[in-house]
Amino acid sequence: MFFAWKQLLYHSPPMHPFWNSVLQPAMIALNAKRIVEIGVGSGENTKNILEYCRETGGMAHVIDPSPLTDISPLLEEYSDHATYYPEPSLSALPKILDADVVLIDGDHNWYTVHAELEIIAKLRLRPETFR
Ligand SMILES: C[S@@+](CC[C@H](N)C(=O)[O-])C[C@H]1O[C@@H](n2cnc3c(N)ncnc32)[C@H](O)[C@@H]1O
Repeated sequence: MFFAWKQLLYHSPPMHPFWNSVLQPAMIALNAKRIVEIGVGSGENTKNILEYCRETGGMAHVIDPSPLTDISPLLEEYSDHATYYPEPSLSALPKILDADVVLIDGDHNWYTVHAELEIIAKLRLRPETFR
């Protein structure tokens, strides 16, 4: 049981494989301009999000206290479209006032995700945005 829990915590599958099939189409459908990413990991989804923001004039809020890779070149390349919060989601999210899409892929334990959702519920979301 402990092994399975540890596997889930440390080896949960990332979101980026679903960029082409799910995430980008959803953002286009919502005309999302303000995107929050919780959990950078290797930065592959961050790159996708920032490229999407550059193409659409959007802005990404990127949250991760310890990404698995150095994302400073990425942040520099897309500096007009990115704000980086090098801290845990529960301290970063209250600094963000509004969002169209929030991708939750950081610390997957119940307490954190529940608290993230409570903060996200207070963000200014557009009416058609999925909650
Ligand atoms: C599964 S990876 C993210 C993968 C990425 N979303 C993707 O699709 O490629 C999880 C990341 O969440 C970060 N993380 C862990 N706890 C966090 C928290 N409380 N707030 C923000 N990020 C957190 C870790 O540092 C790690 O880089």
